[in-house]
Amino acid sequence: MESNEIREHFPIFKRFGREGIVYLDNAATTQKPTEVIEAVVDFYTNYCSNVHRGVYRLGEEATEKFNKARENIGNFIGAKDNEIVFVRNTTEALNLLANSLGSKLGEGDEIILSNSEHHSNIVPWQMLRERKNVKIKFINSKHTETIKPDDVADLITKKTRIVSLTACSNILGNINDMKEITNVVHDSGAIMIVDGAQSVPHMPVKVKDIGCDYLAFSGHKMLGPTGIGCLFGREESLENLPPFLGGGEMIRTVTKEGFTCEEIPLRFEAGTPNIEGAIGLSAAVNFLKRIGMENVRQHEKELITYTMKQEEENNIKGLVSYGTRNMDRRAGIYAFNIGEIPKFDRENLSDGNISLKVQAIHPHDLSSVADRTYGVELRSGHHCAMPMIQDLGVTAATRASFYVYNSRDDVDRLFDAIKASVKRFGL
Ligand SMILES: Cc1ncc(COP(=O)(O)O)c(C=O)c1O
Repeated sequence: MESNEIREHFPIFKRFGREGIVYLDNAATTQKPTEVIEAVVDFYTNYCSNVHRGVYRLGEEATEKFNKARENIGNFIGAKDNEIVFVRNTTEALNLLANSLGSKLGEGDEIILSNSEHHSNIVPWQMLRERKNVKIKFINSKHTETIKPDDVADLITKKTRIVSLTACSNILGNINDMKEITNVVHDSGAIMIVDGAQSVPHMPVKVKDIGCDYLAFSGHKMLGPTGIGCLFGREESLENLPPFLGGGEMIRTVTKEGFTCEEIPLRFEAGTPNIEGAIGLSAAVNFLKRIGMENVRQHEKELITYTMKQEEENNIKGLVSYGTRNMDRRAGIYAFNIGEIPKFDRENLSDGNISLKVQAIHPHDLSSVADRTYGVELRSGHHCAMPMIQDLGVTAATRASFYVYNSRDDVDRLFDAIKASVKRFGL
């Protein structure tokens, strides 16, 4: 399917028309095709019921569709259905791991993260550190470099228990080779967790190829509904993982004295799940399968390559962009600033006096003008990855991120919008 044809499936673009809106905040969340919206509406219209409980027709139908959704989503990443735990999003999956794996860690045990992690792969481990006094070490890569297996190997010691890294940075778009990194981590006997929030929606991902123990991703970043995400865990890994939340669904028996747990994956799904979310995500997976994940990746690679060409040709004064220039390792994410000019010391940051650069055009101003002039919707701010923003030496950045419905025309509009902003602010 061409991007024009794909766009036809998204009612939101009909609302604004072709001229009206260029949506470039796909790393935050994606738009939803009719197929996904209809799957959600169908649940509420035709077979709304709780799952795994009633032995009446509606209950059985809902349970069957919910189970099929799990199987389909598992199949999408090459996992068995009992290896897929439904959660709300990547953040919840990583919190689950920090709590459940964390319960087995002790003082001085080490966890390795990187400076390009999203806050959801930093804060849960920092909260664990407060409880257990574990040590967190950061790989500090330059923004132009992906994370290399050697970067991980250099930090591994006998005390390393967990390595948790993003497969793709949500600011830089750098794609890390998770298979090679996992090999290094497993050689040391540590557990490998992959944050797949920016990889599963955008490229073929097969957990068996990577070999990781756990992988987390969010449905809403891959055409699915909000409030549904997945934690993949290898069968043997999940079997050994203590439950996170307690309540209905996750137990087999409860007495006044105690409880026994359900089999995996239900052991990790306490309470009524997001049934329509899972069914909607399965419809999103079907939509992506029809396009083909190789094609999704190729399309985005083509768009980011074209973006780089436009950056060069437009030669906008003061424009600085971030991320690797190796397009084989670059996702469809383009973060930039206009003018990192005067330096100043900000005293109130936690690390003390970090020398940061003021942006000549603040990303919030730029995004606002981009929307008002050309209908280009961009993200501005710290992108929930403040350590990387600090390492870039700035306070914020503007980000464009692409998906299946974007086209070269959208990239052209992006540069028109940047130029309009530069003109407005008199640079
Ligand atoms: C790399 C990465 N990890 C984790 C997350 C968190 O995703 P969610 O908000 O869906 O939990 C995001 C969201 O932007 C992300 O880009």
